[in-house]
Amino acid sequence: MKDTLILGIESSCDETACAVVRNGREILSDVIASQADFHEQYGGVVPELASRMHVDSIYPTLEKCLSDAGVTLKDIDAVAVTYGPGLVGALLVGVNAAKGLCEVTGLPLIGINHLKGHIAANYLCFPELEPEFLCLCVSGGNTMIVRVSGYCDMEIMGRTRDDAAGEAIDKIARVIGLGYPGGPKMDKAGQGGNVNAYSFPKSHMTDTLDFSFSGLKTAALNTINQTRQKGEDVDIRDFAASYQQDIADILLKNTMEAAERTGIDKICLAGGVSANSFLRKAFDEEAGKRGIKLYYPSLKLCTDNGAMIASAGYFEYINNARADLDLNACPSLSF
Ligand code: KG4
Repeated sequence: MKDTLILGIESSCDETACAVVRNGREILSDVIASQADFHEQYGGVVPELASRMHVDSIYPTLEKCLSDAGVTLKDIDAVAVTYGPGLVGALLVGVNAAKGLCEVTGLPLIGINHLKGHIAANYLCFPELEPEFLCLCVSGGNTMIVRVSGYCDMEIMGRTRDDAAGEAIDKIARVIGLGYPGGPKMDKAGQGGNVNAYSFPKSHMTDTLDFSFSGLKTAALNTINQTRQKGEDVDIRDFAASYQQDIADILLKNTMEAAERTGIDKICLAGGVSANSFLRKAFDEEAGKRGIKLYYPSLKLCTDNGAMIASAGYFEYINNARADLDLNACPSLSF
């Protein structure tokens, strides 16, 4: 059977990323122009500046991704692009680049939900992985448990009712002076720390698989303020370890409950926070005890990249999904 090559384009936040993927599983090229170092001085992503930087880097990134893959647009079968959720100005750059390419070449256009892209990152790392499985999708803006019944057939079983786990980590990282991007810095700061040194209330709602992180975040803020008011220092290593462990425990509890309810014994992690070592360790241990097969992407594929969009695009392509050239950016696209 002829190979299918999908060009994936991602620009939902502060990474301009393009990739070529063969048959949804094999990365031929994966180019990422990250703006993280630039936004560090502001303590977070400045949306307008992010959009302008995407404009500057989109075509060089596209050209490099085609040349790294050793292909031209003539070899590509379809263009897949993230059209939401994300920052509207940032999304528009990728969407318009993809539409321009499709207009000129006549290639089919496929609109991809960013979160479905994160889930597909697992297909790139595990060639044998097939639905059905549960996926804990944890990123800077979203936290949800998804039942993946087919490549294009997914339903949300539980989601956060307030903050995303990544947001809860980033905010506290900033308050304890770790800076931006908070997630990886908090992870590093907590290595070797005592996970029981600090304890925070962990909300658990009965009869639902939904999450809530705002109470935990507020309790952490109160602990920091009260310690400082007493003229004492927060032990950053122990604090970071305890806080991340509590977040991991909350995520683990509901995901395992979803596995019990459905009888599904395959679990994937996806999204930026799935790079977190406390989360990975908690899931590794529990999955081992329960005989559950656990998958999580390589560190590079946990955060935003074009390859995951191309992979998700492949499965949509063979399912005959096509977008019109009036595809628009949807900053709050639902799942
Ligand atoms: O999936 P992603 O790259 O972008 C979104 O779609 O949101 O996720 C970004 C989030 C940020 O909150 C970042 O701090 C977090 O992922 N993150 C981590 C780690 N690496 C990235 N959080 C905890 N530990 C990490 N090692």
